[in-house]
Amino acid sequence: MDKENILNALRNVKYPGYNRDIISFGLLKGIKAENGKVEITISLTTNNPEIINQLRKDCETAVLNIPEVKEVVVEISRPDHQHSQQNPWAGQTRIKDVKHIIAVASGKGGVGKSTCSVNIACALKHLGLEVGLLDCDIYGPTIPLMMGTKQQPFIENDKLQPILSHGVKLMSIGFLIEDDAPIIWRGPLITKVIQQFLHEVDWGKLDYLIIDLPPGTGDAQLSLCQNVPLDGGIIVTTPQEVSLGVVRKGIGMFEKVNVKILGIIENMSYFITPSGERVEIFGNGGGRNEANRRGISFLGEVPIFTEIRISGDNGIPVVISDPDKPPAQAFINIAREIQKQFVQ
Ligand SMILES: Nc1ncnc2c1ncn2[C@@H]1O[C@H](COP(=O)(O)OP(=O)(O)O)[C@@H](O)[C@H]1O
Ligand SMILES: [Mg+2]
Repeated sequence: MDKENILNALRNVKYPGYNRDIISFGLLKGIKAENGKVEITISLTTNNPEIINQLRKDCETAVLNIPEVKEVVVEISRPDHQHSQQNPWAGQTRIKDVKHIIAVASGKGGVGKSTCSVNIACALKHLGLEVGLLDCDIYGPTIPLMMGTKQQPFIENDKLQPILSHGVKLMSIGFLIEDDAPIIWRGPLITKVIQQFLHEVDWGKLDYLIIDLPPGTGDAQLSLCQNVPLDGGIIVTTPQEVSLGVVRKGIGMFEKVNVKILGIIENMSYFITPSGERVEIFGNGGGRNEANRRGISFLGEVPIFTEIRISGDNGIPVVISDPDKPPAQAFINIAREIQKQFVQ
């Protein structure tokens, strides 16, 4: 029996919820074939029985399609965690030519994490730096929309080419996940996908690669921060979140995996009425106080500006459309603060 045939059959098996096959994800660990019996070993980190059963079934069906095959056994193996537990950073390889990788996190969705990621990326570009933006929010990959691109990435020279939008190199998990994939299927592979995004995308020379993480500070986010060679983390929060203690969890998450916290951004801090009055709906200043208490930097506050939302919906970030106006200046100042932490 030809192993190549079996391999080709398995190339048709997609990881549940993704439009990508298990071979290209690097999940196949081994094939044994003898007298019509085929043994396949697949390495999975997930314990989700739905995914495991689905994969077993799909592999069996695919391989049984080969005429000579009479029996298929699918073994599920676990990656060897011992090594990584002793040294969680053992598996990390830096990306050549990418100077700083920064993750943007938040306690929950809807606080403006992606808005900040997009505008910070554009602001760093505005300051004359080379910037990449990687959208890893499996629950809401909105970055292509906010950056105004509908293009799909293509492969050239064996590498996935990022999409250039407003001068920023862009890659999104949204290109990979099926829109209607159930949420529970989206999680398990995310760390692997991000690592592939880091190493199999033609980023070229970058000063900064900004990563928009999925919202939350749970195990999934922790594992991401642990497995990606991050140089710093940013926490985006709203005044309400600060008062609920969510920021503390975010800080704890980065601290647990020894990722340097670049600082906190307080988004939707306040708004300015047409008559120029400053209105603090939720009480403001909490982000700065919390940062001071914890001895970490406060990167800045971003007021509520209608322009910020509209420009996000239109795909032209405020930093690009109106760099001299206050909404853009808020982000440009934050970008300067970030830069200060890397340039001594
Ligand atoms: N400072 C702001 N002023 C006005 N609208 C904002 C601001 N920050 C975010 N928004 C809007 O709030 C919504 C949620 O922001 P988004 O960046 O998608 O949040 P997240 O990525 O945290 O889920 C979007 O419609 C966005 O345009
Ligand atoms: Mg988002």
